[in-house]
Amino acid sequence: MSFSAEWLALREPFDRQARHAGVLQRAVAALSGRPAVTIVDLACGTGSTLRALGPHLPVHQTWRLFDNDLSLLARVPPAANVHVRPLDLVAELEAALDGPVDLVTTSALLDLVSADWLERLVAEVATRRLPLYASLSYDGRVELAPADPRDAAVIAAVNAHQRRDKGFGPALGPMAAQTAADHLEELGYAVELEDADWVMRETDQAMQEALLAGWAIAASETGEMPAEAVAEWLLSRRAALTAKRSRIRVGHLDLLAAPAAARRADRSQSNSTSSPSR
Ligand SMILES: C[S@@+](CC[C@H](N)C(=O)[O-])C[C@H]1O[C@@H](n2cnc3c(N)ncnc32)[C@H](O)[C@@H]1O
Repeated sequence: MSFSAEWLALREPFDRQARHAGVLQRAVAALSGRPAVTIVDLACGTGSTLRALGPHLPVHQTWRLFDNDLSLLARVPPAANVHVRPLDLVAELEAALDGPVDLVTTSALLDLVSADWLERLVAEVATRRLPLYASLSYDGRVELAPADPRDAAVIAAVNAHQRRDKGFGPALGPMAAQTAADHLEELGYAVELEDADWVMRETDQAMQEALLAGWAIAASETGEMPAEAVAEWLLSRRAALTAKRSRIRVGHLDLLAAPAAARRADRSQSNSTSSPSR
């Protein structure tokens, strides 16, 4: 499955706004006390996690960015401490984690992956006792205003579409972040899972239009709704959008998982508390 640079650029401000500030802060705290850090970002796209997290980390940071889309990697702003490498995470996940690593990050990836691939990721991270910051996994919650009687059916079809194969086998879709949290807790990790929702106001026209059009295509592809009903839904939602009456909230989850020992050390330093996973 490919993602256009234009779509990633459109969503990035909403991602940045949605990121759970406490989870991000504790991802930073998980690295505290180290004079230099190395971060591996899986499925980096054009580098949005680097831009979101980098400014909060110690000055001496090295990033290794991996993606299988060369056109996206070419848009990562060049820097001496940022190393981009084309890599297929299905075939070569383990290679991405080779060498010194202090933190593994990813954003908007987990909902695309299969149960088997997620287990593989968790096993590789846990074997190395690495913390994992996996942000912005779609969780299936969508609120649309003003309400349309067809909303629930369209979103149910969209969520069914999310479970289709996105290149990693049948996708976990909305279940991905909770599934990752459960696996990591089983392996002794301290896990935080917090809401990180996109919030679109009446004036966020381009993002809403892209989302609604994408959802209409996805819902139609499932065949779960008559194509005419999807088309009518899209017309109605576009009318609300043009009239500047449309608001959308899309549920995402931010996950931070740290090996238990790292979390104990982190707490004694920052005296912060963390909520258990949901
Ligand atoms: C939704 S985008 C998220 C990109 C970026 N993390 C962000 O938040 O903007 C998913 C990313 O996964 C990458 N991807 C999909 N399948 C992949 C694979 N098999 N190996 C490596 N990257 C992959 C895509 O190229 C895309 O950059």
